[in-house]
Amino acid sequence: MITIAIANQKGGVGKTTIAFNLAQILATKGFQVLAVDNDPQGNLTSSFLEDPALRKSNVLDAYSLKILKPASISKNLYLVGADIGLSTVAERDFQVIFNLKEALDGMKNALTTSPAFDYVIIDGLPSFGHLHLAALAAADYVLIPVKPAPYALAGLKDLLTTVDKAKKYFNPGLSVLGIVINQVDGRSLVMEREMDGTLRKRYGKLVLRTRIRKRVSIEESPAFQKAVAAYAPNSAAAEDFKSLAKEVLRRIKNEQDES
Ligand SMILES: Nc1ncnc2c1ncn2[C@@H]1O[C@H](COP(=O)(O)OP(=O)(O)OP(=O)(O)O)[C@@H](O)[C@H]1O
Ligand SMILES: [Mg+2]
Repeated sequence: MITIAIANQKGGVGKTTIAFNLAQILATKGFQVLAVDNDPQGNLTSSFLEDPALRKSNVLDAYSLKILKPASISKNLYLVGADIGLSTVAERDFQVIFNLKEALDGMKNALTTSPAFDYVIIDGLPSFGHLHLAALAAADYVLIPVKPAPYALAGLKDLLTTVDKAKKYFNPGLSVLGIVINQVDGRSLVMEREMDGTLRKRYGKLVLRTRIRKRVSIEESPAFQKAVAAYAPNSAAAEDFKSLAKEVLRRIKNEQDES
C-alpha cells in the first residue's frame, strides 16, 4: 500500500482536483484505490458523492481510533469521507496526529469488505496543524500542487520545511514525490514563465514535467461526480491528468527501484 498526501497550506491550488482525478485514473488502470478526505471542508467527499446521506464512511473514525470502513464508489475505488466535524481534531492532544496512520495500517489487518489497497490518496486542507501533520505521518509521498499566482512560491519553502521535519522526527520514510504546476492558462504568460523558471531553478527535478492546464471541464466535472478523463475523454484536460498519473507512477517506481 502506497500512501500519497496531496498537500499545500495555500488554498485553492488544486489539491482536491488532483486527488479526485488521480484517484480515479489509478482505479481505471486497475489499481485498488482509497481516497481519503482529510479536510473538514469535505470537498473531495462532495466531488464523489452527490447525496450527503451516503456519507457513512468518515475519516473522523480514524482520529477516534475506530476501524475505518471505506465506502465503495465505483470499480476499484473507495472513499473515506469528511465533513465539518473533522475540525474538532484541531482541539485534541498532539498524539492525535498518529491516529490516521494507525487507522490505515489497522485497515490492512482488519477483516473489512474493502480490498487490500494499492494506493491511498489523501486530500489535504489549506492550513498547517494537526490534520496536516497527520497526513504527513501517514504518507509515503507528498505531492504538492502549486498555481501560477503572485505569492505562490512564498509558502512552498515553509511546506517543504514541515515535510523535512516530519521526516526527521516522526516519519523517516516520507519523501516529496514532486511539485506539480496546476491551472496554467497561458493568459499571464510572463508570470507563468517566471514561476516555471524559478521553480525549476530552485527545486530542479522535484518539479514534475507535467503541467495541468486551466480548463473549464476540470471545474465542471466534479458536479457530475466524474473525473475529467470520463467527463471529457478526448480533452487536453484529460491528457494532462493521464500524463500526471503516468509521471507519478514512474517516479514511485524509480524511487522503489533505487531503495
Ligand atoms: N486545472 C484546473 N482548471 C480549471 N479549474 C481548476 C483547475 N484546478 C483547480 N481548479 C478549480 O479551482 C478551484 C480550487 O481548486 P481545488 O478545490 O482543487 O483547490 P484546493 O487546493 O483543494 O482548495 P482548498 O485549499 O480550499 O482545499 C476549484 O473551483 C477547482 O474546480
Ligand atoms: Mg481542497
